Amino acid sequence: MTDAISYAAAPAPAPAPTPLAGRAARARLDRLWQRGCDFLGTPTAIMGGAMSWVSERRLVAAISDAGGFGVLACGSMGPDQLAEEIAATRALTARPFGVNLINMHPALDRLLDVCREQAVGHVVIAGGLPSGATLRRIKDGGAKALAFAPTLIAGRRLVKQGADALVIEGTEAGGHIGPVSTTVLAQEILPDLREVPVFVAGGIGRGETILSYLELGASGVQIGTRFVCATECIAHPSFKQAFIRASARDAQPSVQIDPRFPVIPVRALANEASKRFMEFQREVIAKVDAGAMGRDEGILEIEHFWAGALRRAVIDGDVESGSLMAGQSVGLVTREQPVAEILAELTAQAETALARRAGDEASLGMMADQAVGAL
Ligand SMILES: Cc1cc2nc3c(=O)[nH]c(=O)nc-3n(C[C@H](O)[C@H](O)[C@H](O)COP(=O)(O)O)c2cc1C
Repeated sequence: MTDAISYAAAPAPAPAPTPLAGRAARARLDRLWQRGCDFLGTPTAIMGGAMSWVSERRLVAAISDAGGFGVLACGSMGPDQLAEEIAATRALTARPFGVNLINMHPALDRLLDVCREQAVGHVVIAGGLPSGATLRRIKDGGAKALAFAPTLIAGRRLVKQGADALVIEGTEAGGHIGPVSTTVLAQEILPDLREVPVFVAGGIGRGETILSYLELGASGVQIGTRFVCATECIAHPSFKQAFIRASARDAQPSVQIDPRFPVIPVRALANEASKRFMEFQREVIAKVDAGAMGRDEGILEIEHFWAGALRRAVIDGDVESGSLMAGQSVGLVTREQPVAEILAELTAQAETALARRAGDEASLGMMADQAVGAL
């Protein structure tokens, strides 16, 4: 019997993907996200997550033009502004894009009317669980309804109420966040919820990660943070610089210091404003405890601390007193890049991983043949 060298020797590195392997990998990727692409009407199932002040006509049109699915952030816009923004986006791209509305917006019904009047194809409803009536209104207006599912049970309920697709967003994401990581949510929800397409969001910065969620059963992904430094994004240069300089650990959730005074967790880059927010809570709570202010008034004061703060940072470039909402994937943002390059990079990373795997399987097959031949 020959010695064990043929087994113990370091395996040869996987051959670089050949053009043929590349084509096969692309075909495999296309099969993996086919459901998401069909649902969105796009060649890739990568949604550009709506970001208030950031996801306006230019970024949204650029994402859709490059093969992704741009989503307009309505944020605090009123109906007329939203109508204007939808029309302006249409003037920039003929590709499909969606509109993100905040569930607790006081003019929600009117905004839904605008979406119907403007024949919007997809409405993403964020900021809490939408009612069945809201989902029906979206669908009656001719659009597909997407909602955020924080748990498997909530996801199932949303599907029963009429949601056409779900987004599951982990705590790594930028902006308002839930408590559970993307990986755990994905494992909890993807294998069991097959009725509608599910898009995974939060902490996604590379194509290999997209691939792993697709293989777990996702139909696509939603990415926010990686698009902030797109060349086409109107965010202030100081806002983009803060992203380029930051590492993952700088993107921290806002902290609530007293359970009597709830704070909705928001992930943002730590800055002067986030430090000041802690002091501010202490000051307000001290006033309430001293009887100088009612508790409800105190809760409102704390809520109002961040009013206008995202706009100040994104549009005015006030990166100290503004809010620098960002996800942990900010550490993977290293420079300004055109949207098409970001999407091409993500897709290529997923394809290369698939092609390498095919190469690995081929070399494993060769090694097995050699091992058998040596017996
Ligand atoms: C600056 C910023 C603003 C955001 N604003 C919104 C918003 O208005 N509505 C919403 O549904 N999600 C909002 N998000 C979340 C994104 O749509 C997306 O789901 C999230 O960024 C995905 O995680 P990632 O940042 O790790 O890619 C925001 C995120 C950021 C970074």
